[in-house]
Amino acid sequence: MFYSLARSLMFCTDAEFSHHLALGSLKHLKNTPASLLWRQDLPKKPVTVAGIHFDNPVGLAAGLDKNADCIDAFGQMGFGFIEVGTVTPRPQAGNDKPRLFRLPAANAIINRMGFNNKGVDYLVENVKKSSYKGVLGINIGKNKDTPNEQGKDDYIECMRKVYAHASYITVNISSPNTPGLRDLQFGDALFDLLQAVKNEQLDLQAQQDKYVPVFVKIAPDMDEVAVQQVAETLLRSKMDGVIATNTTLDKSAVQHLKYGNEMGGLSGLPVQQKSTEIIRQFRAALGPKMPIIGVGGIDSAKAAQDKMDAGANLVQLYSNFIYQGPALIKQIVESLK
Ligand SMILES: Cc1cc2nc3c(=O)[nH]c(=O)nc-3n(C[C@H](O)[C@H](O)[C@H](O)COP(=O)(O)O)c2cc1C
Repeated sequence: MFYSLARSLMFCTDAEFSHHLALGSLKHLKNTPASLLWRQDLPKKPVTVAGIHFDNPVGLAAGLDKNADCIDAFGQMGFGFIEVGTVTPRPQAGNDKPRLFRLPAANAIINRMGFNNKGVDYLVENVKKSSYKGVLGINIGKNKDTPNEQGKDDYIECMRKVYAHASYITVNISSPNTPGLRDLQFGDALFDLLQAVKNEQLDLQAQQDKYVPVFVKIAPDMDEVAVQQVAETLLRSKMDGVIATNTTLDKSAVQHLKYGNEMGGLSGLPVQQKSTEIIRQFRAALGPKMPIIGVGGIDSAKAAQDKMDAGANLVQLYSNFIYQGPALIKQIVESLK
């Protein structure tokens, strides 16, 4: 009820403006009685993945809370884990506005934000200030003006800064909105990057006496041969898990809609089947052990279960959380066995 009212108000205004308004409200009202509007006490559905204990397997996907401004409020909603970022070493403005488009008729979003964020130091300060005690993933990327050849330096710099504060770290190489980033998903570029990441993880483990798993987030726009190759590289470089998937560049399903031809990545319902299929292919290629976090178009308990049946150990929400609000978390968590 509350969310449908809030949604009606937010959907009257520009998508990015209402996004900032919503995050600002969550940030400032988290310790006031207003937080009762979104607080939920959900049943525990505990699971252990990559050595981490989760109260439930339903998480917030990266990109909604890029600067970790609202971790406490998202925790109050009952998410089993929260992923913040993508964060880059230096602050950057992202692409020109408008860059965020709602397609409500398709339960979808197109965005070309371009890793707008306040930089890793700001994010870490926010994490230190928060009182959230649950599982926190920190998703890292490279600055737009860092050439791909030096991209790994950006990932390493972020790793060093976030390691002490993260339950897990996500290496994001799948945003379609940073030119050339997706090239890091393939061949030698991927192995070089992941080898450097692995070495850094082991160094940081030795220094801090704590092992923080590293997950790699991949795109849905891959054929089966590419999935096989990426999976082999993930296994060879001993990554701890894969997050499948990011947004798709295939906008054929929404071309007839207003904004359906905007540049950027498409998310929400139109990516649901595609990302589930990629999860199925990764599970076949990776074998039973490596954790998979399934994300893409989850709009119901059934859609979450489909991802798990395809091989996901955990799931994440973004677009349909925007459309349905905290009730979607509750519906999924309550339905889990
Ligand atoms: C506006 C917007 C911004 C996003 N920003 C990021 C990001 O910074 N890093 C990232 O890894 N994924 C980002 N994503 C991708 C989501 O985390 C998720 O992988 C994708 O949207 C598919 O899930 P969904 O269909 O439930 O939205 C973003 C998605 C949207 C809609």
